[in-house]
Amino acid sequence: MFVKKRRGWELPEQDATAEPLFFNRRAVMAGTGAIAGTAFLPGLARAAADPTASLYPAARNSHYTLDRPITPEADNTNYNNFYEFGFSKRVASAAEALPTHPWTIKVDGLVEKPFEIAFEDLVKRVTLEERLYRHRCVEAWSMAVPWTGFPMRALVEMAKPLGSAKYVVMKTFLDPKIAPAQKQTWYPWPYTEGLTIAEATNDLAFIVTGAYGKPLPKVMGAPIRLATPWKYGFKSIKSIVAVSFSEKRPVSYWESLQSSEYGFWANVNPEVPHPRWSQAREEILGTGDYRPTLIYNGYGEYVADLYKGMDGEKLFM
Ligand code: MTE
Repeated sequence: MFVKKRRGWELPEQDATAEPLFFNRRAVMAGTGAIAGTAFLPGLARAAADPTASLYPAARNSHYTLDRPITPEADNTNYNNFYEFGFSKRVASAAEALPTHPWTIKVDGLVEKPFEIAFEDLVKRVTLEERLYRHRCVEAWSMAVPWTGFPMRALVEMAKPLGSAKYVVMKTFLDPKIAPAQKQTWYPWPYTEGLTIAEATNDLAFIVTGAYGKPLPKVMGAPIRLATPWKYGFKSIKSIVAVSFSEKRPVSYWESLQSSEYGFWANVNPEVPHPRWSQAREEILGTGDYRPTLIYNGYGEYVADLYKGMDGEKLFM
């Protein structure tokens, strides 16, 4: 996943961290999980002061079940991708610098009437529920997470998109004073992702505000992120500040960095390798165990129909 936009004096792509090294690093981390977990707990405990804390835990929606144990919270919060705070996996303490209350989300583009809404008002207008979802990163690791949130369809309905809108485009905050990596202006900040309206209104598309029965920790993308479990994890944009409706397909952060490796659809498929590694199996975060990867990450019954007749598209990268 590590793609460097090169300036003249920098190393070529093939000299960047090799994938096996990536995996070894995680094996070392799994071994030190207990210590690392304790180290970051004070940061996570601060979530208790969150003004929305009384909304948690929300009732679990039993429709969404897992075929594997939930990933322990400490394994999750000590191995993250939140590149705004650095390119290592241990960004939990750096992410604590992000002020998440108050937080405003701007809704605009091809909608009846653009508006801004405070996060705290948004969560009052929906019913929060807990869902157990698998999460499959394009880097070939996976986890299982009890997310709390609400169907993305509710947000789309609130926005009232015009008939001409085809895509929902989401953006993460942009503040280089808080997020050090955003000072590296050769990366295409802010992090941007998009879905078609049909994807965004699919039952599975979930706007996440909490995890493990509590408000979302900052490192997981507080106060509001996306979960699209049939797609590679990079689609699940964190710390969203803008939701815009557009006729034009957006170019996402990773696609703009390396379009030969990361595309718009990014649906999980074990038979379509990443150009630099296989996607046939995945390492279960924190365990050192591997499992075969499932097409659409096992969610084909919900989403396969969305892609019928799109044979010319690169649906699985
Ligand atoms: N969103 C933003 N804004 N910045 C990021 O770096 N990383 C993505 C996705 N959303 C990312 C992001 C990737 S590659 C993955 S796998 C997931 O977040 C990781 O989510 P997690 O850290 O909660 O496991």
